Amino acid sequence: NKECLDNTKGQYYFGTVSKTGDGIECQRWDKLQPHDHRFVYGFMGLSASEHENYCRNPNNDERPWCYTVNDTVRYSYCDIPLCNEKDCREMEKGMEYQGKHNITWDGIACQRWDSTYPHVPNRRISFPGSTLSRQENYCRNPDGEPLPWCYTVNPDVRWQT
Ligand SMILES: *[C@@H]1O[C@H](CO)[C@@H](O)[C@H](O)[C@H]1NC(C)=O
Ligand SMILES: *[C@@H]1O[C@H](CO)[C@@H](O)[C@H](O)[C@H]1NC(C)=O
Repeated sequence: NKECLDNTKGQYYFGTVSKTGDGIECQRWDKLQPHDHRFVYGFMGLSASEHENYCRNPNNDERPWCYTVNDTVRYSYCDIPLCNEKDCREMEKGMEYQGKHNITWDGIACQRWDSTYPHVPNRRISFPGSTLSRQENYCRNPDGEPLPWCYTVNPDVRWQT
């Protein structure tokens, strides 16, 4: 299950993002607190518990979303990249220092090079003749890996090509 959307609606998204775009943790689909809802009996061929607290789009909404654990915010949309944004491995040879691909092979968004969240970059990472901020969150190869890579915005995946 890729961590990206095949189309903007993402009706077939079965990935594991479990926070809204504004950073609130998602409520589990098999729970009715803090928000009561009709998806507790399951959807998309799976039981509610199998969906855990992952962002989903079971009702043909604009984008994947979830109920939140904050009792004043019933639901909110999740920020999941599109799969057709180019990933690090699709970068052409020689473009490791200037391409603009910004998602990983699994479709996880890249963390900005000037950010320390969720991953604190290795102190030796630098881009001679440039700054970390000018590299935005593009796939890069500052340390001689076989392929360009980036730190990812998923706290459980430090880096990926
Ligand atoms: C819940 O969301 C509201 C509105 O965004 C915010 O003011 C409040 O601090 C949140 N509560 C918790 C417990 O995070
Ligand atoms: C990737 O870069 C494009 C523009 O180059 C931008 O529109 C898009 O939001 C970026 N995606 C991520 C996940 O950073």
